[in-house]
Amino acid sequence: MSIRARIEGVGHAVPARILTNDELSTMVDTNDEWIFSRTGIRQRHIAGPEDTAFTLSLVAAQNALANSGVAAADLDLVIVGTVTGDMQFPSTSCLLQDALGATKAGAFDVGAACAGFIYSIANATAMIESGMAKHVLVVGVDLLTKIIDWTDRSTCVLFGDGAGAVVLSAVEGSDRGVLKSVLLSDGSGAKHIHNEVGGSRYPHGSPQAEGRCHSVYMNGNEVYRFAVQAIGDACLKVLAEAGMTPDQVDLFVPHQANIRIIESARERLNLPKEKVFVNVDRLGNTSAASIPIGLSEAAAQGVLKPGMIVLTVGFGAGLVWGANLIRW
Ligand code: UT7
Repeated sequence: MSIRARIEGVGHAVPARILTNDELSTMVDTNDEWIFSRTGIRQRHIAGPEDTAFTLSLVAAQNALANSGVAAADLDLVIVGTVTGDMQFPSTSCLLQDALGATKAGAFDVGAACAGFIYSIANATAMIESGMAKHVLVVGVDLLTKIIDWTDRSTCVLFGDGAGAVVLSAVEGSDRGVLKSVLLSDGSGAKHIHNEVGGSRYPHGSPQAEGRCHSVYMNGNEVYRFAVQAIGDACLKVLAEAGMTPDQVDLFVPHQANIRIIESARERLNLPKEKVFVNVDRLGNTSAASIPIGLSEAAAQGVLKPGMIVLTVGFGAGLVWGANLIRW
């Protein structure tokens, strides 16, 4: 009998501090009308000095474990999708594994930017379906506000911080679980969105890093153009691979970068508005965290129910994009 990776629990965490568009308008030359009409964002939660990828992940993971009934000691793997881990190394997943007491688990981070959760779920599913793991914790977490340039109005208005987590377990003889995933990339678009200093090409403090951008660089128009095409393509591909059509989707939880991008995907898939989960207005773009926070909020609100067909899709720096199709 075939094994499925079923999501048994969800959780999330966001920092307490809320930054509104009006407050941002006192920091850079912008205004609520511009930000809301171009992005759909009204406010975002931003990390304080004490918040890190690890601290937010820990709360999200503890919530997801409690929600799932799976004990940390039974986890076989801890996977964290992030590009803003606590340190260059070790991975944030190792810090999390230790704090949770996941004593028999392997741990690694997945660096797929805003598609980090999609890629991590695909990894977890493959590990479970192959029999390598029975219980896997997947976290999507990012604190991009720690690495943005707060004087650059074209990027600083977009991002918020947070973490979302799910626990997946191997089940036999169930039709619920992750049905299909698609993972795609186009590294020729690396130039459109990156944080280039701090790696081996331009190490911090090196002559090579001089004059380089030390924070998030993004060519918004290029990323927007890419996203509108990629998001619809990935959704249609994952549905086709599962032998399904968009009208069978009960809930669409897309990466929350911009309401206009979400809306264009909704139109391409011909989905009614009530099937689309949106929280970009309250949280901004939380990168790898946006999809699992959306799943966790949808479950807490009672919008997400067992048996529903859930379509998730993400895209971001790489460029990378992909989708997971789940029977909840
Ligand atoms: O998850 C990672 C992936 N990232 C994304 O998905 C982001 C994708 N891109 C976008 O969402 C949009 O391109 C943005 C929201 C970033 C920008 O929206 P846009 O409609 O593409 O605006 P634009 O960049 O074409 O800028 C239009 C104008 C410019 O002024 P001029 O040249 O027309 O005079 C900008 O300087 O808006 C100006 N502008 C602003 N004005 C007020 C740029 N940022 C701001 C701002 N407030 N914050």
